[in-house]
Amino acid sequence: MSESLSQHASNSAFGTAKSGTATSRTSGVARPHVAVVGAGVMGLSIAWRLAAAGCTVDIFEQGRSGLGASHAAAGMLAACAEAEPGEEGLLALNRESQRLWPSFAADLEAAAGMAVDLRTDGTIVLALNADDGAKLRHLISFQQGLGLPVEWLNGAEVRRREPHLATKLAGAVWCPEDHQVDNRKVSAALRIAALNAGARLHEDCPVERVETVDGRARGVIAKGERFGADVVVLAAGAWSRGIAIAPATPLPVRPVKGQMLALAMDPAAPILSHVVWAPGTYLVPRRDGRLIVGATVEERGFNTDLTAGGQLALLTHAWRALPTIEELTILEQWVGFRPGSRDDAPILGLSAEVEGLVFATGHHRNGILLLPVTARAISRLILDGEADPVIAPFAAERFLPRAAAE
Ligand code: GLY
Repeated sequence: MSESLSQHASNSAFGTAKSGTATSRTSGVARPHVAVVGAGVMGLSIAWRLAAAGCTVDIFEQGRSGLGASHAAAGMLAACAEAEPGEEGLLALNRESQRLWPSFAADLEAAAGMAVDLRTDGTIVLALNADDGAKLRHLISFQQGLGLPVEWLNGAEVRRREPHLATKLAGAVWCPEDHQVDNRKVSAALRIAALNAGARLHEDCPVERVETVDGRARGVIAKGERFGADVVVLAAGAWSRGIAIAPATPLPVRPVKGQMLALAMDPAAPILSHVVWAPGTYLVPRRDGRLIVGATVEERGFNTDLTAGGQLALLTHAWRALPTIEELTILEQWVGFRPGSRDDAPILGLSAEVEGLVFATGHHRNGILLLPVTARAISRLILDGEADPVIAPFAAERFLPRAAAE
């Protein structure tokens, strides 16, 4: 084992690395050479943090960076609005990441020299009729029982905040800490930040497999070429299962299709200023006047069809909540793929089967929300071997047959 890799092994979680790859030094500390599979927001943010700390980083992307779920998302940071019974285990992770967003956005804007439009207007979850109201009353008591900052608004209070909403409202849940960010700007900024920090981005370069030798990751095979590395990070979102990693068990990650669309508001007189959830849809107003309307949830694999039924459902639900949308122009319609795991929670941290392999995938509906905590936890794990307790429940190990039998 070389001296530098021995030193790296002593201060990281990756054991006794031995490879022909370059290991760099920062202030006397050996830094591993890292291959990141996937240039969405997860892969780019981890690459940025690692490259800034002195690692040699290669990022591999099957197409162009940031054009998967990172591009398709709505950018909601909805730890409270989306907290539902059965997902209590995710709450600590979601709330921690929500707390990190303002400083993460400020660091990213400084590193990239561009704004990412973190808006702190809060979120309204609407009830249009008595039935919706009863469901929301049930939900708010669950959320308040978990200590979340949510409060009930009557119809008049809702319309005072958002005068263009439907005249007949049964009330709403107000989530003052659920904000939004422009995910497309975040992707663009992360690309700049990662490249500025020295990461190398290989686009149109699909990874076929992670190379493993004696149970340890040694790099990746992409476009038939071998790229050596000490550590491999799998951050390929909905495509994560397609990367072969013998002898590791394939990750239980599937694409969960979502159709969306964007309408054009007048940026000088927007008809909405908060994120609004209404039955069957959510509406996210951007500073530039775009109004994002989302999203269907479809188990249809990587089917990319925009369907009349899907678009009609979104527009109908949106129109019931905000009737004046019928005056707006449609700017864009698209499909994205959420990376859904078997329990819909992310897969984070070290592989139990392959040394030097790290997962940062399966974020499902919460990818943008979970970005800062994922970038922090995964980069610290690689740099210092520090295992953040907040990601401990989300190890891939929970899906191994042994864990399931226990
Ligand atoms: N978090 C919003 C969505 O998945 O559609």
